[in-house]
Parts: sequence; C-alpha cells; structure tokens
Amino acid sequence: MKPAEILSEARALLDDAIQLRRRLHRHPEIGLTLPRTQAVVLEALDALGLETRTGQRTTSVLARLTGGKPGPTILLRADMDALPLREETGLPFASEVEGAMHACGHDAHVAMLVGAARVLVRRRADLAGSVLFMFQPGEEGYHGARVMLEEGLLDGAGAPSGAFALHVTHREAAGVITTRPGPMLASGDTIQITVRGKGGHASAPHDCLDPIPVACEIVQAFQTLVTRRVNVFDPAVITIGKITAGTTRNVIPETAHLLGTVRTVSEVTRERVLEGIRRVADGIATAHGAEAAVELIRGYPVTSNDASFAGFVLDTAREVLGAERVTPMSHPVMGSEDFSYVLQRVPGAMANLGTRPDSGEVYPNHSNRMLVNETALASGIAVHVAVALRFFERGGAIGAAARPTAG
Ligand code: NI
Repeated sequence: MKPAEILSEARALLDDAIQLRRRLHRHPEIGLTLPRTQAVVLEALDALGLETRTGQRTTSVLARLTGGKPGPTILLRADMDALPLREETGLPFASEVEGAMHACGHDAHVAMLVGAARVLVRRRADLAGSVLFMFQPGEEGYHGARVMLEEGLLDGAGAPSGAFALHVTHREAAGVITTRPGPMLASGDTIQITVRGKGGHASAPHDCLDPIPVACEIVQAFQTLVTRRVNVFDPAVITIGKITAGTTRNVIPETAHLLGTVRTVSEVTRERVLEGIRRVADGIATAHGAEAAVELIRGYPVTSNDASFAGFVLDTAREVLGAERVTPMSHPVMGSEDFSYVLQRVPGAMANLGTRPDSGEVYPNHSNRMLVNETALASGIAVHVAVALRFFERGGAIGAAARPTAG
C-alpha cells in the first residue's frame, strides 16, 4: 500500500472510529475488569474474522490476524481502562458513570486499533506476517500488561518480534507523532515511610522523641541524594507529596508519615535511588535515635524504546503523515506506562499522537476537562497500519539485532 492510500483508507474510517470512541467514552470502566468495554471490543472485531482470545484474570482481548503469506508477527497495543474522576467537559457524550472518566484517551486508543484492524483485514491476502492486537485493561496502575504477559501474551508459535503502541498527548497538535530512541517514559515507584519516635508534651521535647524534624530532614536529604549521588545525564526525581503527623499544637506525636514517588529513566539509576532512599531514611532516623520503616512499592519499569525500532516508527510516520507532522522527542517524559513490560521482552516502541484541540484552553491527560481532538484518530489508524505493513516488508528485521534477548 502506498502511503497516500493508507492515509485515505484511515480517513474513510474516521467517522466509525469517532463513534466507537464516543461509545466507550460514555461508559468508562476502571481497573482490570472492564466487561462492558470488552464486549464492545469483541463486537467491533466480530465481523473481521480474527482469532480472538480473552483473558482469565482480566477482561483483556487478544486478536490475531494471520496474513495470506508467512512472515513475522507484530504486536499492536491499545489500553482500555479509564480513571476515577468526575468528568466536567460538558460534552454531549460525556461519561454516564459517576466517578469514572476516560481522561487519558484510552477510549481513543481502542478506537484507533479497531480501525487499524479493519484496514489490515482488507489486505489480509497480501500480508506477509501476522498482527497480534492487544487490548489491555488496567494500565492506570494495575499492571494489566504484566497480567497479560503472565497469561502467555508472548508465548507459543507466532510470538511477536516487534511491538508498537500509541498514546494520545495534549502536548502536540492534532495528528503529530513524537517518539525517541531509548527511554521515553520513567519508572514510577512509591515511597512510604513511617518515622517512629516517642510522643509527649510539646513543651518538653527532651522527654520525647519528636519524629517531625526527623521526617523533615529525611525529605531534605532526598534532594541531596538526587543532586549528589545521581548522574545528571541519567536523572531522577524524588517527590514527597504528602506528610502527615500530629494532631495539635501542644502534642508531640509518636509517628510521622511520608508518601512520595520516585521517577528514573534507567533501571541502573532506579536501583541506585531506591537503595539510597532506604539508606538515607534509616541513617537519619538512627542518627536521631528514631526508627524509619521504609516501604518501597515497585510501579512500572522504565519505558525504553528499541533505538532502531523508534527510528523505524519515525521514518514510517514521516512517510504517511509528512515530515512536518513528525517530531523526535528531545528527552523522556517522567510519566510511566506499563507497555514497558512488553518492551522489556520484545524490541519495539511507543509513540505519542498529538490530540490537542485546535482552539480553546488545553487540559492535560488525567484532567477532568481533558479533550481529545478526534480528527487525529485517522492519523493514529494510519500509523498503526503503516508500522505493521512496513514491518512485514522488512521481514520483521527491525531492532531485533540490537537487542539480544529480552529479560
Ligand atoms: Ni494513559
């Protein structure tokens, strides 16, 4: 297929994609169990003659399109879950579910992937390879991709040797594609610390062991940890977002609690910082005769694009959308994403698709007023299709050489 043909077929499906996206938008579901969303996806795929499989522990949908000719398999992914917030967009198709909203554009991701499946099915006879469509619940902190991996996403015959996903972004104009080789998104781990001292009268701190100044010192020392122990070219962020301690002005409490997040863009720095947090918190508490119970809860790993695959995606997007619609990212973004688990095992890449409204105020992803510029869905469909077609044309030999085995 010529690039212009891919784009025009994608544009012809734009209305369908918008309808599907709005249907999902009205009925957002949160977490790993999205029965209604799953049913909509299965219904949308029904007429396409794909081999579909649903998850055990989640409502995932895995659909395989086997081309007319033998060849490699590429995985294309859309996440499907929404967020726990109350929609305030005032759209006619706004969420009808109290306390849930598609505020991260996963409704658009699903609609684009279904659109891509429709285009690719028409070319089935000519495809020299297979496409594995991954519809994933639980991206927003529930490790849905990891569950799908545990349920055999990459196992057996026809395992994918390339993987690709799109995510909408308010940072770019509608239809602009951005990505970069190497790290694209950060790891995201949670820090929970309880500093334990001894409570008593606020007028007699020497009879107590005040945990509050100890907690404050720990927060400050984390910033020193970042600037003195972390390579500035392999950065980290530590933010303590919540401190709780005490009840009133004349009581020294027994404990102080810290809650925060750590972001890094390499697994080496991630381990260094997590270990450092434990050491610094313990050390400072001990120095003051207090105790620190440190709990580090691992979130998603670093989302790291295969360098060759990311270059291939940029080239392919330029071909289909025009060079002016493609911008390499200068640096990673410190958000996190569980497609990282897939990219640890399969060479591939994630890219952003600009969905910023053409006019009016811009609200970021995860805002209760977030809007998706739906015209961009055609570009997203086209890029999914083009990545798959070019992958087959090159026999799947993209990036695999650069990365020996996964792990
Ligand atoms: Ni998202």
